[in-house]
Amino acid sequence: MSKKIQAAVVGVGFIGKQHIEAIHRIPNTQVVALVEPNGESAKRAAESYGIDHYFTSIDDMLNMDGIDVVHICTPNFLHYPMAKQCVEAGLNVFCEKPLSLTTLESNELKELARKHSVYTAVNLNYRSNVMIREMKHRISSGMIGTPLLGQAQYIQDWLMFDTDYDWHFDPSKVGPSRSVADIGTHLFDLIQFVYGEKIVKVFADLMIVYPTRKKREQTGETFALEYGDTVTEVDVVNEDAAFILVQLESGIKVSMDISQVTGGYKNGVELVVSGSKHSLSWHQERADRLIIGNRASGNEELYADPKYIDPSLRRFISLPNGHAVGWADAFKNSISEFYEDIRNDGHNDSQSYVDFETGHTLMKLVEASLQSSKEKRWIDME
Ligand SMILES: NC(=O)c1ccc[n+]([C@@H]2O[C@H](COP(=O)([O-])OP(=O)(O)OC[C@H]3O[C@@H](n4cnc5c(N)ncnc54)[C@H](O)[C@@H]3O)[C@@H](O)[C@H]2O)c1
Repeated sequence: MSKKIQAAVVGVGFIGKQHIEAIHRIPNTQVVALVEPNGESAKRAAESYGIDHYFTSIDDMLNMDGIDVVHICTPNFLHYPMAKQCVEAGLNVFCEKPLSLTTLESNELKELARKHSVYTAVNLNYRSNVMIREMKHRISSGMIGTPLLGQAQYIQDWLMFDTDYDWHFDPSKVGPSRSVADIGTHLFDLIQFVYGEKIVKVFADLMIVYPTRKKREQTGETFALEYGDTVTEVDVVNEDAAFILVQLESGIKVSMDISQVTGGYKNGVELVVSGSKHSLSWHQERADRLIIGNRASGNEELYADPKYIDPSLRRFISLPNGHAVGWADAFKNSISEFYEDIRNDGHNDSQSYVDFETGHTLMKLVEASLQSSKEKRWIDME
C-alpha cells in the first residue's frame, strides 16, 4: 500500500478551509493538525472537520511527530517566515500564493528548499483545471497552428467600493503590490504554463482608483465583507488594477487585464490564445468548457469529458460526463499532483505544479511590473 500522507493546515480562513476539503477528497491522505491563532476558533475548526490536533502557534505544531506536509494558508506576510521554519525543520511545504512579499524572501526560500531537499509547492491552482491542461496540450502539439498572440484577464468586484477594506490594503501584510501579487500571479503562471515559455519582458501600468478608502474593523474572512462600525479614512498605497503586456521567449505578446473593482465580475479568469488555425478560450466561471474559435465555420465548445480530451489528461476528471468539473476540482488536482511526487519520490519533471523555484520567478514578475509602472518602460527579465 502506498504511504499515507499526513498534512497540517496553518490558517483556516477562506482558503484554508478549501485546502482541508480538497485534501479530504484525495485518497490515502489525512489532515492531522491545524493552526489558528485564536484558541476557540482553532478548537471549533478542528471539531467541525474531525481533525485530532489543533494549535494556536506553528511552533507548537512543529513539535508534533508524523507530519509529512504543511499547508500555509495565512495572509501573505506570514508565508516567508512560516515556510522557512517548515523547510528548516525538514518538512514538505504547500504554500499559498504569492510565495512571499519580496524576491529577496522568495530567493532565500528557493535556496533553502534545495539545501534541505524537501518538496515545495506554491498554490497556482488554475493550471490544474483539466481544460487548461487540454489547452496546453493543443498548443504544444500544434493543433492550433502557430501561436500568434494572446489575452489574459483576471477581474473581480469584491473591492469595488471605497468602503471595502481588509488586510490586503496593508503593505506590511501584502508587500508593495496588491492585485498584481494577489491575482496577477495566477495569470503570469497560466501564460507561462499554457505556452510552455518563459516571460522575458513586461510593460505595466498599475492603477489606484480610490486614493483613500474607508477602513473599518474587519470581522470576517476574505470575501465575507463583515465589518465593525468605526470608520477611519486611510490612504491607499497599492494597486486596484493593472494593464500589463508580457513578451514570451519566442516573441509572442500577451496582454493582461487585472482588476479588483469591476462590478459583476466575481472570479473572472479568462485566457485566449490566438493560433494560425484556431483560437482557444477558457473562462474560469465556465471551467468545464474550452472554446475552439474558428473563422470559416461555427465555433466548437469542447466539454470536459474524458472521451474528448487527450488520454493523458483523463486523471484530472474524477466524475462521469455531465457532472461539471470546476474550481474545487482544479484545487484538488493541484494538491494531488504534489502529493504524488512526495509519495513516489518524484521530481516535478513535467513541471505539473509550481515549486519554490518557479514561485520565485513569479515574484520577480511582480517586482518587474512595479518597476515598469514606475519607470514607464519595458523591463527585461534576466
Ligand atoms: N490560490 C487561490 O486561489 C487563493 C484564493 C484566496 C486566497 N489565497 C491566498 O491564501 C492566503 C490566505 O487568504 P484568505 O483569503 O484565506 O485569508 P483569510 O483572512 O480569509 O484567512 C487567513 C487565516 O489565517 C489565520 N492566521 C492569521 N495569522 C495566523 C497565524 N500566525 N497562525 C495561523 N493562522 C493565522 C487567520 O486567523 C485566518 O483564519 C493568502 O495568501 C491569499 O493570497 C489563494
